[in-house]
Amino acid sequence: MHNAAFGALGLNWRYLAFEVEPKNLRTAIEGAKAMNFAGLNLTVPHKLLALEMMDELDESAKNWGAVNTIKFVQSPKTKVQSPEVRAIGFNTDADAIAKSLREDLKLELRGAKVLLLGAGGAGRTAALKLAAENVAELFLVNRTRAKAEEIANEIKNKFPSVKVSPGYPKNHVDLLLNATSLGLKTDDASPLDETQFSLSQTRAVYDMIYRPAETKLLAAAKKSGGKTANGLGMLLHQGAKAFEIWTGKSAPLEVMRRALAAVPSPASKVSFREH
Ligand code: ATR
Repeated sequence: MHNAAFGALGLNWRYLAFEVEPKNLRTAIEGAKAMNFAGLNLTVPHKLLALEMMDELDESAKNWGAVNTIKFVQSPKTKVQSPEVRAIGFNTDADAIAKSLREDLKLELRGAKVLLLGAGGAGRTAALKLAAENVAELFLVNRTRAKAEEIANEIKNKFPSVKVSPGYPKNHVDLLLNATSLGLKTDDASPLDETQFSLSQTRAVYDMIYRPAETKLLAAAKKSGGKTANGLGMLLHQGAKAFEIWTGKSAPLEVMRRALAAVPSPASKVSFREH
């Protein structure tokens, strides 16, 4: 999607993927800086590690406690000093979640009741962003309950007006959001315990996984008549924001959306989700 966007704007830029071992992250960032890269995107497991490696953190990275986008900025050359390149860390994931929920599910987040599955990196960012968007009630479910409780406590401190509780809701919710990694593999169990919560109790289901495009959870939700969306919109919006940070130009959103849609579903078992 980035290369399509560069092409559409006539920019002679390239977006490339590099596989980097966590132990080499600092070296890789320094290398990219030395080679005058415009920036980087980072994904699992680098988003938390990179927090410590930035010269500066944008408010977004400070707010959400993770870096998924780096911009290299050259400070002006002075008479005594050669120009220095600084790495600035941003987070474009959190805003992308809210944008995609609004766009793809037509969901009004303010006042909504949400059941969130997962309390890893993606789950935490989603929970904090939903709280910041003034949802009325958040139910947090995670295999390791202590992690859901930790996030619940963080939200109670930062967003006291949001009612937050670990565990499944008794009644209806507006949204069920899967932020676990369950569903990435075709033989994964469902992230939802249907003995605790029925899909008929939610109006909409969002799965952060976008490949496979339809997880078992989404297929079941569709069958029970609810609105559904996968994580492609989140991928699009975090990328569009990163594009704007690097280039200073408005992202050609429809070009990027079309490029994403044109990626064929691989015959292999490759699976993805953002974050
Ligand atoms: P990310 O940063 O992508 O969110 P993560 O931090 O490893 O990745 O989080 C993965 C999430 O999927 C967690 O909520 C994890 O539950 P635990 O906190 O209990 O580990 C959840 N998850 C992964 N495999 C799971 C499984 N087999 N059953 C239930 N939950 C699972």
